[in-house]
Amino acid sequence: MGEGQEQALRQEIFHRITEFYTYREARKDSFVPGKTLIRYGGPIFDHEEVNAVVNSLIDGWLGVGKAAEQFEKEFSEYLGVRKTVLTNSGSSANLLALSAAANNGLGFRIEKGDEVITPAMTFPTTINPIIQNSLIPTLIDADIGTYSASTAQIEEAISNNTKAIMIPHTIGNPCDMDFIKDFAEENNLLLIEDNCDALGAEYRGKKTGTFGDLGTYSFYASHHMSMGEGGAVATDNEELEPVVRSFRDWGRIGAGKYMYTHIGYNLKPIDLQAAMGLVQLKRLEWFLQKRRENFKMLYEEFSKWDNKFILPMATKHSEPAWFGFPLTIRDGAGFTREQLSEHLWKNNIENRPMFAGNIADQPAYKKIQFRKVGSLKNSEKVMRDSFFIGLYPGIDEEMIKYTVKTFKDFLANA
Ligand SMILES: Cc1ncc(COP(=O)(O)O)c(C=O)c1O
Repeated sequence: MGEGQEQALRQEIFHRITEFYTYREARKDSFVPGKTLIRYGGPIFDHEEVNAVVNSLIDGWLGVGKAAEQFEKEFSEYLGVRKTVLTNSGSSANLLALSAAANNGLGFRIEKGDEVITPAMTFPTTINPIIQNSLIPTLIDADIGTYSASTAQIEEAISNNTKAIMIPHTIGNPCDMDFIKDFAEENNLLLIEDNCDALGAEYRGKKTGTFGDLGTYSFYASHHMSMGEGGAVATDNEELEPVVRSFRDWGRIGAGKYMYTHIGYNLKPIDLQAAMGLVQLKRLEWFLQKRRENFKMLYEEFSKWDNKFILPMATKHSEPAWFGFPLTIRDGAGFTREQLSEHLWKNNIENRPMFAGNIADQPAYKKIQFRKVGSLKNSEKVMRDSFFIGLYPGIDEEMIKYTVKTFKDFLANA
């Protein structure tokens, strides 16, 4: 079969895929209050992503290839960083970021048993790389409303053994990066930002994930843009980038060589993920704008229930990229999170607790050696009384109105 014929067939395939999505879009079920599940997140894509993925598949090179290379270039440009390494998940990105920084001889001098400051209210795979690298998590509390790491406690947490800070921009709200960056520099600490929840968020006009030595990203299905699964490590440190890549690629240094300079993993994505990501990246600004609009609508509505809930609060100098709409039930509100959650589920409104709550209370962590700063009382409260609902671009005004009505009904009877 000639090249011309192959091209013609490819075009026909793309045409049919486009037709399929146009057909499906025209027949999409409209929203039925109480019947249609209002999800907290999900991927938004159409024939453009599917065509890009199929094109990559037909090319036949499934491993990391030209789409991954192009994605790394465009994503670095978007963030304004020198280098990006694409991975198969955000969890992998966290593991790679800390493993690479801790084991490379580039000057961070992180040794087994050293301490890493990180919030107790977290996601498992933010803290797991600390444990997996035989380091000790020093748990600090978070503020309720911003859900950001408490800066007062960061100061309190430092010891002679502290070597790094691993900080998530939880639920899309930036941490106080003025304080954290200065603190890390003054104390010669490695700074890793887990930006998996916060792609597109800014602090003083600079993108989060680009302040620290390394920043990590997730492209899981419910995140700001999606590859189904996927992640990235971003860094301005051009010495660190090949180490991250080496850890990702079995510990190998440089493509094509059978030379192994690190005890690595295989956390590579496949090119199809990158092909999808390249299209999603073009939609990202629109995704972020929709999230902001939905946040604004929800915030205005929920303001009237300020006596029942602690409303989400943007950190000073920041423009969050909210992952969800977080709420904390005030003490004495007269109902429990379980009662409210059940009511929401019954009415087909998806809701989630705030990730792992206080991680130290989760079963897998009972025997883990932590150093804890203070009582972690906010993390305890979040574990008990906080949750989030969705604001992703798949949610429209009608769904928000129905969500608000569902809360109103619940509160009237609570
Ligand atoms: C703060 C944080 N870090 C890391 C991850 C892990 O990302 P992934 O699901 O891509 O592994 C998540 C997941 O949502 C997260 O919320």
